[in-house]
Amino acid sequence: MTLQAKSIPAQTVDIDLDHRSYGIHIGAGLLDAPDSYRDLPAAHSAMIVTNNTVAPLYGGRLQRALESRFRQIHTVTLPDGESHKTWESLNLIFDALLSRGCDRKTVLFALGGGVVGDMTGFAAASYMRGVPFVQVPTTLLAQVDSSVGGKTAINHPLGKNMIGAFYQPERVICDLDTLNTLPVRELSAGLAEVIKYGPIADMAFLDWIEEHMGQLMARDPGALAHAVKRSCEIKAWVVGQDERESGLRAILNFGHTFGHAIEAGMGYGAWLHGEAVGCGLVMAARLSHALGGVDAAFVERLTRLVQAAGLPIVAPVLDAHDNVGRYLALMRVDKKSEAGEIKFVVIDRPGNAVVRTAPDALVAEVIEASVHV
Ligand code: NAD
Ligand code: GLY
Repeated sequence: MTLQAKSIPAQTVDIDLDHRSYGIHIGAGLLDAPDSYRDLPAAHSAMIVTNNTVAPLYGGRLQRALESRFRQIHTVTLPDGESHKTWESLNLIFDALLSRGCDRKTVLFALGGGVVGDMTGFAAASYMRGVPFVQVPTTLLAQVDSSVGGKTAINHPLGKNMIGAFYQPERVICDLDTLNTLPVRELSAGLAEVIKYGPIADMAFLDWIEEHMGQLMARDPGALAHAVKRSCEIKAWVVGQDERESGLRAILNFGHTFGHAIEAGMGYGAWLHGEAVGCGLVMAARLSHALGGVDAAFVERLTRLVQAAGLPIVAPVLDAHDNVGRYLALMRVDKKSEAGEIKFVVIDRPGNAVVRTAPDALVAEVIEASVHV
């Protein structure tokens, strides 16, 4: 069933970064609304970067919406999937930009999920040393997280998101209607990033998510609008204080140290990013409990919520002979690691997260307990 969100009023969350501040526009039908593109940097040409799944769904609509603003609108269509978040795909964007004579004013539009958004942002950061770009996220995960805050990257076989740049978009346009075509597995993946905001920053939001999980899974437009807005508010609040992750911003990686190990260990794309994060949230909650920050009931509560969102709560075996060793080795490649020492985001009291190290033996217990549930 397609639920139309037409009655949901459009809202804007501002992200305050001095001269690089921008608005995150959230609403129904924004993809086609001329207002969505008003006051963008003036330019002769635009390049829509999308993939072969999203292009047939929304490529034509974005193209038509941009026609009144740009004389030339080009499109580059990348292969779909996390396994294509690579140098090869990035080069396809550069090939398209150069072969079509795009200049330093060309505006890039990232139309798709987090994979397209991260790659387009990185291309925008580096093409001719920087061109403007706009995020048009079409997955829940991208609307609540990846399109906001200016982290851009590609993967390396040895580590997730290892090559990239901080580079802010001009604007983020979240059209809630696009979520109607999202496969249910992808909807669940997005909910992992929604859930994460509760334990790290806002327990009242966690209560709300629990109460509305049924509506979120049923794509109720009002519930989705609130989830996207509150998630963006929290992310904007964090990024506004620590754009380049010198401290606070790391809390947004709650569940991600374990999650990134799962993604890399399983092979990119085997588990969706959000699925790995969902399981990672449970593992990080267990570690938080082992370190004394939360009680067992908190771990149980978060586990049930992750499960209710349709996400895995049992961690995969990454190596039949030395599973703990494999997890630890993968987690040492995490960007938060220093001198090979793994840093974890843990909850030190409900609604508050900190970054800290943990003894390998304790982490090993958490991994074991998460695999053998
Ligand atoms: P994705 O980009 O792979 O999109 C998921 C799938 O949904 C893809 O097959 C895509 O083609 C398809 N799709 C997209 N929109 C659709 C729509 N409206 N209807 C139907 N299908 C649609 O995955 P994702 O979950 O959006 O993003 C995950 C990526 O985001 C990971 O690479 C992760 O590292 C990154 N990420 C980045 C940040 C950041 O701050 N930059 C934060 C979180 C995650
Ligand atoms: N998704 C983590 C961050 O943006 O910092």
